[in-house]
Amino acid sequence: MAMISTYCPHFNGLRRSSPKLDSSQSQSFLQHINSQLRLASSRKPCRAVTAMAGSGKFFVGGNWKCNGTKDSITKLVSDLNSTKLETDVDVVVSPPFVYLDQVTASLTGRIEVSAQNSWIGKGGAFTGEISVEQLKDIGCKWVILGHSERRHIIGEDDQFIGKKAAYALNEGLGVIACIGELLEEREAGKTFDVCFQQLKAFADVVPSWDNIVIAYEPVWAIGTGKVATPQQAQEVHVAVRDWLKKNVSEEVASKTRIIYGGSVNGSNCAELAKQEDIDGFLVGGASLKGPEFATIVNSVTSKKVAA
Ligand code: PGA
Repeated sequence: MAMISTYCPHFNGLRRSSPKLDSSQSQSFLQHINSQLRLASSRKPCRAVTAMAGSGKFFVGGNWKCNGTKDSITKLVSDLNSTKLETDVDVVVSPPFVYLDQVTASLTGRIEVSAQNSWIGKGGAFTGEISVEQLKDIGCKWVILGHSERRHIIGEDDQFIGKKAAYALNEGLGVIACIGELLEEREAGKTFDVCFQQLKAFADVVPSWDNIVIAYEPVWAIGTGKVATPQQAQEVHVAVRDWLKKNVSEEVASKTRIIYGGSVNGSNCAELAKQEDIDGFLVGGASLKGPEFATIVNSVTSKKVAA
């Protein structure tokens, strides 16, 4: 311990960069860093630092779901184009398929566009489906997969979702991979089991983790106004990061963004963002209002401890 106490964490914008360590040193080093970060928020630091356990950039996605008309989307895009967004955040919005082209053509390049679903393979005779190639053709950079509404309303299972994720990643789309437990699963003490199983279904098939953002979205919190407490969210995010560390690699655990979704709004985002393992948000209802979505994007500032 005496040896590691000489380490001083370096902060590079929002990213915490750490010296290269061998695996015997790295575990205790990370524990040390985490305790330093916790201390950093309780005493006056000498410069701006970030309470961020992962090394990835803050990420906020707006999931518009099956909402909007040409007119309302024109207004939303114009609000987003004129709003001020912090630079240290990756921002993505996910319109319904039929408006993707309208949005990609009119939205500022500062914000990337995501689809809400994609097919498991190349396009062809699959009525009603949209292929990854078509999404890329119109400038889409991301796709949301494994969302609870597709799992529990449409009936998609882990294997099917895994196929979609593998295909999308292999073709160069980023994947927002959603996981999360039902209320009865939480009440039965199965939250971690459910999340780990859904995570494993992704881990078993994806070619790499470079282009994946994990969205932890407890199903009981989605669209209900019943947001998880910062502690409830942080607890699962730590467990997910730990699972990645044990089952994928330490590097992937550190660099993969783990974002929270479920009734995030302009009033609760700052407290959630302060949690070390919350690397951003996936926002439904509140992403349909430009100024409120901007507030959520800009909650990254609450991660910064004033100098
Ligand atoms: P919500 O939806 O913010 O409306 O709860 C989140 C989501 O489903 O991604």
